[in-house]
Amino acid sequence: MPSNLPSSEPAVPKRDAQFVRVAETQREALSFFIDGHEATALQGDTLLTAVLMQQRRVRESEFSGAPRAGFCLIGACQDCWMRTEEGMRLRACSTLVTQGMRVVTRFAGTACVTASAASAASAAAAIGDPQ
Ligand code: FES
Repeated sequence: MPSNLPSSEPAVPKRDAQFVRVAETQREALSFFIDGHEATALQGDTLLTAVLMQQRRVRESEFSGAPRAGFCLIGACQDCWMRTEEGMRLRACSTLVTQGMRVVTRFAGTACVTASAASAASAAAAIGDPQ
């Protein structure tokens, strides 16, 4: 039976990970891809949690190249933007990771497609509007 209580197993930090999971360890696992490398997360993890369970950053700043790992964790600071391999922007702290999701941490050469633009395009396609 799934438990939200901390595991009796000691939390072993993954090398170079920013986060360590200490509770809710019994949720179903899923796989996703960071910069083409397969990683594992748990159902219900935010993309920010899933990525920072693997490494110390969600992206590199487009201005300075400095690593960014989110700040507020509640959708207010804009520090956790990531992109899908197709270029759609995702706010990692308010997006759930999904099975097979493919995200990148480096944006150079990636076309910028905002979530709202992608949603508008798919909505237009659904109703047969060529935009
Ligand atoms: S961490 Fe601040 S908006 Fe995501």
